Amino acid sequence: MVKFEDIKGFVFDLDGVIADTSVYHSKAWHQLADELGVAWSDDLAENLKGVGRMDSLNLILKTGGKENAYTEEEKEKYAAKKNTNYLSLLKNMNASAILPGISDFLKTLEENDYRLSLASASKNSPLVLEQLGLAKYFEKRVDPTTLKHGKPDPEIFARGAEVLGYKPEQCIGIEDAKVGVESINAAGETSVGIGDPKILHEADINFTDTTQLTLANIKAAMKVGEH
Ligand code: G6P
Ligand code: MG
Repeated sequence: MVKFEDIKGFVFDLDGVIADTSVYHSKAWHQLADELGVAWSDDLAENLKGVGRMDSLNLILKTGGKENAYTEEEKEKYAAKKNTNYLSLLKNMNASAILPGISDFLKTLEENDYRLSLASASKNSPLVLEQLGLAKYFEKRVDPTTLKHGKPDPEIFARGAEVLGYKPEQCIGIEDAKVGVESINAAGETSVGIGDPKILHEADINFTDTTQLTLANIKAAMKVGEH
């Protein structure tokens, strides 16, 4: 692992790291899966984390053996429907959806002059950050519509470092999705996984939830890694 002292930037995933919104994504996909007659499962929900809108729909269809059942046009309609459901779940969301410890963590990073960027696959991330009142921390963002590949490809996290003006080795990436951790690792950044260590075992550092996500804990974990 690189040295803690060499870290200058933090690249954040949004859904499931900063806010509780992955639950809303899941609910909206579950609703659509029911409509499409595809059985929902915890595994499917886990595999959808971090995956872009169209790729998510394709994964759901494939899981149900319906990958050839619809035209591109029909699929566009279903994806739009999911998004409408998702947006209606977001309607009353506010700062109370920020996951525990995240507000303090962002403040600490700012006070210590770290640069922050956002590496979310969600086209709704500008809206979500506004509603949470956290947009000011993330002036630097990767625009997912400009990407060629989704997570686990390194593109999004590599760009997350680039928009900060830092090399990947100078950055820590934070993710709750397995494909997200893979993207961070492939980009050459230090990965922090938030969630079940069995699922996120490829992360350099693992925290079971956001309350453990502190600068002191990251420093301690990286010091251990030096020996
Ligand atoms: C994130 C979430 C996924 C979501 C994707 C696209 O990666 O973890 O659950 O499908 O963004 O989000 P969007 O808001 O653009 O449909
Ligand atoms: Mg996520």
